[in-house]
Amino acid sequence: MTVLADRYGRRFPYLRLSVIQACNFRCSYCLPNGYQGVPGTAPSLRLDEIERLLHGFVGVGLRKLRLTGGEPTLRRDLPDIIATAARMPDIRTIALTTNGCILRKRRATWQQAGLNALNVSVDALDRQRFAAITGHDRLHDILAGIDEALAADFPVVKLNAVLLRGLNDEQMPAWLEYLRERPVAVRFIELMRTGTNKDYFERHHLRAQALEDDLQAQGWSLLPRGPTAGPAREYGHPDYRGRIGIIAPYSRDFCAGCNRLRVTSRGDLRLCLFGNLGIPLRHLLQDDASGDLLQATLLGQLGLKEAGHGLHEGRTGLTPHLASIGG
Ligand code: 5AD
Ligand code: SF4
Repeated sequence: MTVLADRYGRRFPYLRLSVIQACNFRCSYCLPNGYQGVPGTAPSLRLDEIERLLHGFVGVGLRKLRLTGGEPTLRRDLPDIIATAARMPDIRTIALTTNGCILRKRRATWQQAGLNALNVSVDALDRQRFAAITGHDRLHDILAGIDEALAADFPVVKLNAVLLRGLNDEQMPAWLEYLRERPVAVRFIELMRTGTNKDYFERHHLRAQALEDDLQAQGWSLLPRGPTAGPAREYGHPDYRGRIGIIAPYSRDFCAGCNRLRVTSRGDLRLCLFGNLGIPLRHLLQDDASGDLLQATLLGQLGLKEAGHGLHEGRTGLTPHLASIGG
C-alpha cells in the first residue's frame, strides 16, 4: 500500500474532517458574533461523499479520523457519519471535537455508532468565565456530560482550553483540582492568530512556556512521546489521574510533529491549518469510479506540503477563523 508521506518524512495517518461550518456558540476567539453563514457557499459534504472520501484516505493510510466543524454535533446525521467510518476497520480511532452542547443527550448514541474518542472544549471551569468566553451559560451541563462519559467508560476523553490572557489565566488551581481524580487529559492550546482575530490576539495571546515552567516546578514531568503522537507535549504527575497537554503552535518544533491533513466541510483538502495550499476534492467524490484518481490526487498534493506554517511571519493563510476549517 502506498502511504501518505511528504518531502520531510512526515506521515499522515490522521485526517481532520469538518462536517459542517456552522456553530451555535460564540467563542470570543473564534466567532465572537456567532456563525454568519456566507450566502452562496456550497453545502456540507453529504454522507455518500464522506464515505467515498474516507475510502480514498483509507487507501493511502488513514488510521485516525477526527470529526470537527464548526460544531459537528449540529449535523443530524452525525451518528450515520460515525457508523460509516466504523465500518472501515482500518480507521481505528474515530474522534469527535465538540463544544459539548448535546453531549449529555447524544453521547450514548455516538458511542454505539463507534465513536471512541472525545475532545470537549472547556475554556474555563468557572461558570461566569465560561459564559463570558463562549457566550453560553452551559458549563454545568457540559461538565456533567463529561463525567457521564467517564462513568460509561468512554475510551478517550480530552478537554481543550484555549489559553487567554486576562480571561482564563487564573484557572490553574481549579484545573489541578479537576484533574486529581479524573482520567482525562486537558490540552491547553496557545491562542492562534487567524484572519479575523488580530486585535483579540494582541490582547489575549499568552505563551504556554510560563505555564510549562510552573507545572515542572510543581512536579509535573514531560511524558515520552508515543510514535503516533501529534504536536501536543504531555505532562503527568504521580498524584493526579489526569494529564496535561500543551499545544503551542508558536513553538519551534511544532510543525515537525505534524501528522494530520484536513478536509473542509465543502470537501477542500487543506495541507496545513494556516497554509494557502489545498484543492477541491468534491468532484472526485461523486461516484465510486473516481476512487483511484482521488488517491492519486492525495498522494500528489502531499508533495506540496510545506515544512512549517507561516504564523511567525504573520501569515494566517486561508483560515478566517477555526470554525471554517475545524480546530
Ligand atoms: N486558537 C486556538 N484554538 C482555537 N480553537 C478555535 N479557535 C482557536 C484559536 N484561534 C479551538 C477551540 C476548540 C478547538 C476546536 O479549536 O477552543 O477547542
Ligand atoms: Fe464554535 Fe468551536 Fe468556534 Fe467555539 S471554537 S465558536 S465552539 S467553532
